[in-house]
Amino acid sequence: MTSSTPFPADLPRYESLGLGAAQSELEQFDHLTAYRQLGPIYQLTFRGETWVAIGGMEANEAAWRNPDQWDYHEALPPFRELMGPSHVTQLDGEPHRRKRRNLKPGFAMSAVFGLIPAIDHSVAGDLRAAAGQSLRLHDFFMLALTRANSRTLLRCDFDDVTAATFIRFEEHFIRGTSMGEARHAYYALPGFVADRAAVFAFLGELVDRRLAGESAGDNFDAMIAERRERGETLDRAELIPEAYLLLMAGTGNTAKLLNCGLQNLSQDPAWLARLTAELADYTPEKFLGGMGAFPLLKATLLEIERLFPAAPVLARVVAEPFTFNGYTLEKGTKVLHLQTLPHFLDEIYADPYRFDPARWIDREYPKKAQGTYGGSTHLCLGINLVRLHMPVVVANLLRDYRLELGEQPRITVNVNYGVPQVADLMARFEPLRAAV
Ligand code: HEM
Repeated sequence: MTSSTPFPADLPRYESLGLGAAQSELEQFDHLTAYRQLGPIYQLTFRGETWVAIGGMEANEAAWRNPDQWDYHEALPPFRELMGPSHVTQLDGEPHRRKRRNLKPGFAMSAVFGLIPAIDHSVAGDLRAAAGQSLRLHDFFMLALTRANSRTLLRCDFDDVTAATFIRFEEHFIRGTSMGEARHAYYALPGFVADRAAVFAFLGELVDRRLAGESAGDNFDAMIAERRERGETLDRAELIPEAYLLLMAGTGNTAKLLNCGLQNLSQDPAWLARLTAELADYTPEKFLGGMGAFPLLKATLLEIERLFPAAPVLARVVAEPFTFNGYTLEKGTKVLHLQTLPHFLDEIYADPYRFDPARWIDREYPKKAQGTYGGSTHLCLGINLVRLHMPVVVANLLRDYRLELGEQPRITVNVNYGVPQVADLMARFEPLRAAV
């Protein structure tokens, strides 16, 4: 917020709660206590700046009602800096709507659904190749999912060295997005500069081939073809980050959810046994009709999404005066939208810190109580993909393997809500049958 931006003088202050000194990391705040004691809107100091936090069902309703009240261009500069000015995440208004339209042939449910058997085939092969080895679960999932993307959404020759470079780049890139100004030094590290150059060179050559007429029959082709039909110009610099989205984006978050979920599942033997029984005769074709035949799997995944939202808080900047709960925030105000706070309210989800998939059986919760993928027009582009990747991975794993988790940090949910770091969870997949 600039010093000239008027600020509601009587807005409650987080610091008045006496919960601790100024905080530097998001997870150091206790937003649940603040929400209970101060209400759904309050101010706080975060990394030396004043922000306004909004949370609860009413905040989700208000924040998602009118997406044009937010300025994404100002809120997410790291995406622009690294991916270029046309990257979807930081576009607003009509350019954003146009971009989402252009991305649809790549990510709509109708565009990804038919890929289930191919995704399954790829994941099953990677599980077989990894069986019996002790591995870092997070790395394995990122690699398996990115490889699956390279065989479905963006078909390309993606060898192990290239895959490792992409994964290093993505992890470094995403870590930097939450570092504030410190990201500049982080992104200038020579290893990252080299990885970035390699990633962009790889995708640049791929885009050049497609623009020259090469066809791979994949989702990228569909995106390009639809734009051609509409008579839109095809811009190389715009297509490169789009190819990146198809190949790699979000796999770290999916891996995180799978890590957390599998650890919690392994600690609930009764539910795990029922779920394993449900998946005993899983085939990918059975998912083509939806998840109806797998109610326990569906419930398990919804619970994983609830308890481990990989991006629990969204940074926003007010674009036009925004009135919420009697306070008006002026243009330029920095807002932390605690969009997943309702996941941890016991008036909505009983005993909210408990991993309890059964809570989803025969029961629905309000849409605005679910913030894992954000909401409104900037709703996660990859949501349909995640909701295929996760069931395919879990179904293959439980049907064919016993998961042995190694020496591991206990994954607890942050008391303030949020996601713990789980990247160092070790595991081994032991085949249940010789033929796997
Ligand atoms: C479990 C995994 C994932 C989680 C928890 C997640 C979460 C989110 C969240 C919270 C947002 C912000 C929405 C907003 O600003 O309102 C978002 C946006 C986005 N996600 Fe995901 N995501 C995941 C996986 C993916 C995947 C696999 C992709 C692959 C393309 C992806 C691509 C995007 C993009 C491009 C946006 C920006 C959309 C826009 O600004 O229009 N995400 N995601």
